[in-house]
Amino acid sequence: MKPPYLMTLDETATEVPRDKRVYFEVFGCQMNKLDSELMLESLSQSGYTLTHDVEDAGVIIYNTCSIREKAEERAYSRLGSFKKRKAQDPNLVIALTGCVAQHHESALLAKLPHVDMIVGTREFHRLSDMIAEVRSGAEPLVATELDSPLEFHRSQNMGPSSCQAYVSVMRGCDQVCSYCIVPTTRGKEVSRPPEVILEEIRRLAENGVREVTFLGQTVNSYGKRLGDGVGLHTLLYGVEDIAGIERVRFITSHPRYMRPKLIEAMATCEKACEYLHLPVQSGSSSMLARMKRTYDRDFFLKVTDRMRNRIANFAIATDFIVGFPGETDEEFEDSMSLACEVGFDHGYVFKYSPRPGTVSHRIADDVPEDVKKERNNALMNQIMDIAQVKNEAYVGSTLEILVEGPSKNDPTRFTGRTRNHRIVSFAADADEPIGQFLQVKVDRATGTSLWGSKVGCSTESPTIPKPRLDPAHDAS
Ligand code: 5AD
Ligand code: SF4
Repeated sequence: MKPPYLMTLDETATEVPRDKRVYFEVFGCQMNKLDSELMLESLSQSGYTLTHDVEDAGVIIYNTCSIREKAEERAYSRLGSFKKRKAQDPNLVIALTGCVAQHHESALLAKLPHVDMIVGTREFHRLSDMIAEVRSGAEPLVATELDSPLEFHRSQNMGPSSCQAYVSVMRGCDQVCSYCIVPTTRGKEVSRPPEVILEEIRRLAENGVREVTFLGQTVNSYGKRLGDGVGLHTLLYGVEDIAGIERVRFITSHPRYMRPKLIEAMATCEKACEYLHLPVQSGSSSMLARMKRTYDRDFFLKVTDRMRNRIANFAIATDFIVGFPGETDEEFEDSMSLACEVGFDHGYVFKYSPRPGTVSHRIADDVPEDVKKERNNALMNQIMDIAQVKNEAYVGSTLEILVEGPSKNDPTRFTGRTRNHRIVSFAADADEPIGQFLQVKVDRATGTSLWGSKVGCSTESPTIPKPRLDPAHDAS
């Protein structure tokens, strides 16, 4: 697997000895991708460089995710395949990092005795020292403290593309959703000070970044312990003054924290995109209570209505879990009907996966696998059908996109995104500049993307002013 977002280091640095060549495999969410970049960046300070060829690497890092059993099992099986190589090459260093490391700590060494280090979600700044220690003969190392510093050096060219950057604004999660392992693997919520974040974004802007995405496990509760009324709205208003940044997004939000101040900031800040990823998890109030989500169906509907009424062209994406313990046919039907009622622009559906250490792990996983599969398919189809209809409504219109790069499947095309997060594919010139704003006329739509052709560019600044709606709908 070649993670395209790991682009920090000069891959042509062939004179770098094998010992200093690092191979990464990254599972999980955007936070894990950003953490992988930060690891790579800290290793580069000690002379390490990235390789995309595992055979060529002297250090192998698996940055893992424990949200569902499958992701965890996949990491174990891939790591297991290095057993023979490690026996032949003792200088090879194998590190298991991230959420699985944080959760299972030293117990992993019994399961994977050829792994040299287990590094949790807040200790990766120590990787270089730990590699040196292991190479000088130390026993396997475990570093899983959760109160380590939040500030890491970042390079200016980290990110999903040269014009986009992820910015971690907070780490950890204070929620107690009964199915979720994240509070265990990422610890309690800690927010970074707004002035530090805004300074980081100023530097990114100077280096050509046009779009930033704030990251946090419950990003919209940002600022909880900072005082002075600081919240995510503070960051949105702050970015308005940073020249060069044209778009701001944030993931992932909790419905409970979609407060009026934040909605108002999204409605009024020119740079705040008309898009929100707002996982609902279920459309059934009884199920939401068992999941300990702290809101019910009605609350979620009110929040999404409020946002659609206040912000034009507003797109909402979500996550659902199907087959949570005890999910009845009626409860599942509530998820189907909620998907219709909200009309999500995009959505993910996950089959419930019991995770040791969570509250729901103690309850029998009693929805049969074939029922989970059926529900998963039915809900996914429903979401896709709605998304397709919504996308088709754009056929014939001209949209502004930020060009992100070549299309994965077709080298003659590039892709970009609208402010409301729709992917648009267009026939590209050979050297289409990444990071430019283009006008594209849409001629075809699927449930996941739009297809069109260029009709002009607007490199100076986005040309479409933020649509304004009647503030009478304001939520207060
Ligand atoms: N089983 C299945 N899906 C889960 N998610 C979180 N925990 C679990 C679990 N135990 C899903 C939620 C969350 C997304 C990132 O993963 O929908 O929003
Ligand atoms: Fe996976 Fe959650 Fe950890 Fe992200 S925070 S890597 S989704 S377990």
